[in-house]
Amino acid sequence: MPTVASLLKGIQFPSAIINAAGAKDVSRADLDALGASASGAIVIKTATVEHRDGNVTPRWTTDEMGSLNSMGLPNLGYQRYVEYMPQLKAYGKPLIASVSGVNDGDNETMIAAYHAAGVDMVEVNLSCPNIAGKGQLGYDFVASKAMLERCRAQTDKPMGVKLPPYLDNYHFEAMAEVLQQTNVDFIVTINSIGNALFIDPDREMKLIAPNSGFGGLGGRYVKPTALANVHKFFQLVGDQMPIIGVGGVVSGTDVFEHILAGASAVGVGTQLVNEGPDVFTRLNAELADVLAAHGYDSVEAARGQLRELAA
Ligand code: DHB
Repeated sequence: MPTVASLLKGIQFPSAIINAAGAKDVSRADLDALGASASGAIVIKTATVEHRDGNVTPRWTTDEMGSLNSMGLPNLGYQRYVEYMPQLKAYGKPLIASVSGVNDGDNETMIAAYHAAGVDMVEVNLSCPNIAGKGQLGYDFVASKAMLERCRAQTDKPMGVKLPPYLDNYHFEAMAEVLQQTNVDFIVTINSIGNALFIDPDREMKLIAPNSGFGGLGGRYVKPTALANVHKFFQLVGDQMPIIGVGGVVSGTDVFEHILAGASAVGVGTQLVNEGPDVFTRLNAELADVLAAHGYDSVEAARGQLRELAA
């Protein structure tokens, strides 16, 4: 049987399939459940310096095609997660922190603390779409560069970025240049597609309460955009930076598509929330079957093998 393991920047993932930041990873119980599951890593909810309750509810909804959320960064505050780290590390898989400060200096403070506590990898989230009055940093290339320079100075552990979806070639190229200039180690793409709107036509009503009903779109709805973002960054910087593909993963075949597009690991968000942590057992088995059916013995062997359609 092929192996579903993967190696990113020298860090061994027992499976290439991991939780996407934000999906069932806020509480200690959530994180223990991820540790006990077949996920290839434990990704901790994007943290802020202070604890946050997040936005008013209902702030998440799902249908057969995906999900809409405006959570508003509910999290325990990074210090609690730092406290949990020794026990979380005992699960024997990489521990990945995610940070999105709301004030100047917050990301640096959090990264320095996670580094000192022995985190394996850090994701700088440049793409939270749900904080009122805060634009997504990932859409401002100058501000992203300045932020990543400050973050890079805090750690020599693998440091990556969580990117928003891009739709324009100029944007892919501009962000790829920033990532190279700031010595970023890995890319996580995509975050949810911001400012989507679900409508219940029967009630003539919005389906989530915060932010006038607007929220981040995830799930099957976003897979083609996710695959395109993975593949664009693979073409631009894939030889320098491993990519964690996120978006629309429901089956092992979806994972395989991300790998063909250039992902070395794949995050699961909406489907993890809908199915629970057992999703990883199912997806690992499905991915092994798909790799075998296509004659690959590993994720690495299949990475980026997507072929052009001959004209
Ligand atoms: C939240 C949503 C995101 O997409 C993200 O990257 C970070 C936080 C949230 O609303 O909690």
